[in-house]
Amino acid sequence: MINDRKIIFSAIQPSGQLTIGNYFGALKNWKMMQDTEDADCIFAVADLHAITVRQTPAEFRQRILQTYAILLSIGIDPKKSPCFIQSHVKEHSELAWMLNCYTQFGELGRMTQFKEKSQTHADNVNAGLFTYPTLMAADILLYQTDFVPVGADQKQHLELSRTIAERFNGIYGDVFTVPEPYIPKLCARVMSLQDPTKKMSKSDANVNSWVAMLDKPEDIVRKFKRAVTDSDMKVCVGEGKDGINNLISIYSAATGLTAEQIERDFEGKGYGDFKLAVGEAVAESLRPIREKFDDLMKNKDYLESCYKAGAETASRIAFRTVSKVSKKIGFIK
Ligand code: TRP
Repeated sequence: MINDRKIIFSAIQPSGQLTIGNYFGALKNWKMMQDTEDADCIFAVADLHAITVRQTPAEFRQRILQTYAILLSIGIDPKKSPCFIQSHVKEHSELAWMLNCYTQFGELGRMTQFKEKSQTHADNVNAGLFTYPTLMAADILLYQTDFVPVGADQKQHLELSRTIAERFNGIYGDVFTVPEPYIPKLCARVMSLQDPTKKMSKSDANVNSWVAMLDKPEDIVRKFKRAVTDSDMKVCVGEGKDGINNLISIYSAATGLTAEQIERDFEGKGYGDFKLAVGEAVAESLRPIREKFDDLMKNKDYLESCYKAGAETASRIAFRTVSKVSKKIGFIK
């Protein structure tokens, strides 16, 4: 991968079940970038990031593997795009430590996610939660990444990665590529089906508010049938129509139809018909993913061969960066 092609890097945490918000909002876009961008994509399951909260070992192990299998199920081709498990590439921890020493306490303290999480997890505000953004910077900078597709909630972290890279380059010369955010062409912000003013979240206690990527088709359809709408009765985008706006955007993500086409197709039809159509379209678009996932989970040897090969390729690149950084800092080889 030493050439002039741009590098795109992204990672996802193996925390809990992935939802259609993760799929339509991020993962579907990963596949699109792999297939259409003139760039090399590198993807990781960010298991090191996930231990800022306590994990049950057996469950955690299972979830890391499942998250990895989902990436392959949505069409990430490990031969084309190195896809690995973060903790398998030791350089992530190594560079994260070094970058900690080039990151200010005040900068980390200003991170919105840290401030929020230290309130919601007040009983476990550990140092890892605080330095989480430097680990994320290491993930990105190790691969001399040009573009990082990130959602709104990770933008501030990416901004800090840029600051750290620029600071380091300022002291030692050009060591790191300074990464830029990648703004996806198609990307849906999926809201809760029960309270469409809130982002869909797998930690929502009401299971009807979110749809997992691996939910059974009949459960998906049922959840959409129960989705909250409004009293206006018209399938069209509009102010105060958060529920319908959300359903239109999900239907559009699942079918590729534009909002205008959808409005036309459902003119004169009721919400019942529309909700059923959305549910069925989502179930249909997830069906091949679920089938592939079930196959892959029966084939652990294959999965292992993929994540090992991914880690090997990633390690080669990561090793080069860490060697360069070590030399600049003055460590003895
Ligand atoms: N912090 C990201 C999240 O929670 C996941 C992540 C870890 C990531 N390392 C990354 C995303 C590097 C982009 C680039 O969503």
